[in-house]
Amino acid sequence: MSWVNAGLADRRPVSNGARRKGRIVAGSPFTHPPGGRPPARGVRRWERPSARSVSMARTFDRRLAARIVCDIRLSCVGDANMDNPLSVEASLFDLPLDAVHVWYLFTDRVTDPQVLERYANMMSTEERVRRDRFIFPKDRYQFLVTRGLLRTLLSRYARIRPEECVFVMNRYGKPSLHYWGSATAGLEFNVSHTNGLVAIAITSGREVGIDVEELARAHSDLDVRRFFSTAEVRALEALPPTEQRSRFFDYWTLKEAYIKARGMGLSLPLDRFSMHLHRNRRPTIEFAPPIDDDTSTWQFVQFEPSPRYRMALAIRRRGTDLTVRIKEFDVKDETA
Ligand SMILES: CC(C)(COP(=O)(O)OP(=O)(O)OC[C@H]1O[C@@H](n2cnc3c(N)ncnc32)[C@H](O)[C@@H]1OP(=O)(O)O)[C@@H](O)C(=O)NCCC(=O)NCCS
Repeated sequence: MSWVNAGLADRRPVSNGARRKGRIVAGSPFTHPPGGRPPARGVRRWERPSARSVSMARTFDRRLAARIVCDIRLSCVGDANMDNPLSVEASLFDLPLDAVHVWYLFTDRVTDPQVLERYANMMSTEERVRRDRFIFPKDRYQFLVTRGLLRTLLSRYARIRPEECVFVMNRYGKPSLHYWGSATAGLEFNVSHTNGLVAIAITSGREVGIDVEELARAHSDLDVRRFFSTAEVRALEALPPTEQRSRFFDYWTLKEAYIKARGMGLSLPLDRFSMHLHRNRRPTIEFAPPIDDDTSTWQFVQFEPSPRYRMALAIRRRGTDLTVRIKEFDVKDETA
C-alpha cells in the first residue's frame, strides 16, 4: 500500500490510489535541512508522566546528541540509495526530516471488537474520563477511535508503546508528545476530527496544523463576515452561488489549519489574515496587523478524503516546500 504524494499536483488526481481515495487539490515538493526540537518546556501537563518515564527520559537526555545524529542519518539514508536518499523509505512509519505524513481514517470502518478493545486499553485515565463524559455513544466511539489512532501512529513513529504516549498541552490547549527519548524529540503532530473522519498530521520539528470538515455541515448559520477577512468575503461573494458553498469550506479549513499550526487558538483573530486560492498553484496567506508572521514560510495543502469531506494542512517550512504524503489508515498498517 503506498502513500499519496501531495507533491506537484494542483487540483488533479495524482495516482490510481488517489483517484480512488481522494484528490489532492494543492501542494508542492520539497527538501530542507534537519530540524528537531523537544516539546516546549513550561507547558501544562495533560497527563502526568510516570516516575519510570521521567527516569528513562533523563537517561535518554544524556544520550540525545549522539542519538539524534544517528536518527538523522537513518532517516536520510534509509536502506540503500545513498545518491538519492529521499527516494528511500524503509517503512510507512519512517519520517524523513523533510516530510509531513498525513493519515486519515473513516471512523465508522473500525468495527473489529479486538481493535476497539486494544484502543480502549491504550487510553490513559484522563482519556477514559473524557470519553465517558460524552452523552452519545457515537461521540464516545469517535473519541475512542481518534485516541486509538493517535496513540498507534505516534507509537510507531516514536518507537514506544501506544500506552506510553504522554501528552502535554500548551496554554491554548494544543497537545504535543511529552519528550520520551530521542525518537520523540521534535516529533510534531496535529489532530482534527469531524463526524465520521479523523485526520492526523505528523512531522518533525516544525509547526503543523490540520483541519477536516464535513461538507454537509450547514454553513448558512455561520457569520462569514465575523470569521473571514474582507478580502475573503469579497472573493466568496464574487463567485456564482453554486460555487460558494465549496469555496467556503476551502477557506474555513485553510484558516483553521493555520490557526492550529500556530497553536494559539482564537487569540489569533480570524479576520486579520486572508487565504488566497489560486488556479494553478497552492494557496497562499496574507497577514494584517496585529498578526506578525512571514507569509513565505507557510505551505498549504488541500485534499478531499472523499466527496463528503474537505481537508487542509498548514506547515511552517524552512526554505523550499516539504514533501506531503497522505494515506488512508488501514488497521493492518499497525503491523506494517
Ligand atoms: C480549539 C480548536 C483547535 C478547535 O478546532 P475544531 O475545528 O473545533 O476541532 P478539530 O477537530 O479540528 O481539532 C481538535 C483537536 O485539535 C487539537 N487542539 C486543541 N487545541 C488546539 C490548539 N490551540 N491548537 C492546535 N490544535 C489544538 C486537539 O488535538 C483537539 O483534539 P481533541 O479535542 O480530541 O483533544 C480551535 O482551532 C478553534 O476553536 N477554532 C475556532 C473554530 C472557529 O470558529 N472557526 C471559524 C472558521 S475559520
